[in-house]
Amino acid sequence: MFRLHSGRAGNVLRKSKAAHDAGEAAIEVLPMHRRHLKGVIAIERRIFPSPWSLGLYLSEISQPATRAYYVACAGPEVVGYAGMMVVVGEAHVTNIGVATEWQRHGVGRRLLLRLAREARQRSAQHLTLEVRVSNVGAQALYHEFGFVPAGVRKNYYSEVSEDALVMWAHDIDTDGYGLRLDGIEGRLRPVRGPDPPEK
Ligand SMILES: CC(C)(COP(=O)(O)OP(=O)(O)OC[C@H]1O[C@@H](n2cnc3c(N)ncnc32)[C@H](O)[C@@H]1OP(=O)(O)O)[C@@H](O)C(=O)NCCC(=O)NCCS
Repeated sequence: MFRLHSGRAGNVLRKSKAAHDAGEAAIEVLPMHRRHLKGVIAIERRIFPSPWSLGLYLSEISQPATRAYYVACAGPEVVGYAGMMVVVGEAHVTNIGVATEWQRHGVGRRLLLRLAREARQRSAQHLTLEVRVSNVGAQALYHEFGFVPAGVRKNYYSEVSEDALVMWAHDIDTDGYGLRLDGIEGRLRPVRGPDPPEK
């Protein structure tokens, strides 16, 4: 992911009693605001070796003309977040993260869907991102959204001495890409509640 380093319409699933009884969680994808940042930073610190600072998030969300940041919430709890920078027809996914106990429950897919739709609304033609070469799980998610590898940035993640795979999804402004997103949305399954804490 883009490590700015060193080197609403929300998507609402309302929780019915039946869903509650089935152990499902209502996940809302909402624009990121200052009040979410405590939760965002807490996740960021747990899942990334070089977490973004509060100041960096504040700077990013203060530039709505070229940035779009979202959080995924289960009730009041932030369980994931994602953002991008959109400049002259290109949308660059800068960050995406999901709390460990909520990973692999479809939260990342919902966040990326929101970003891809927003990129289209802002007339972007292409989406790009960086991902650690070893992060095959994230790459599988990106592949679902039409991202393909386009090159490698050597030692991009210098803090862990790892290369970045650069991925692009092209022609996201086409009807075909819109249909891809509709397909992903149509296949969304209800989100289960969090995994139990590891002992
Ligand atoms: C990568 C990340 C954002 C994905 O979010 P998520 O909510 O866990 O992903 P989802 O549950 O929406 O997964 C959607 C699909 O992506 C793929 N996928 C996601 N994580 C995977 C994993 N660990 N292994 C294999 N496939 C994975 C699967 O195809 C999955 O679909 P399936 O569960 O129906 O098989 C999240 O795992 C995370 O925060 N990881 C740590 C930080 C990170 O690596 N961020 C990305 C930096 S580029």
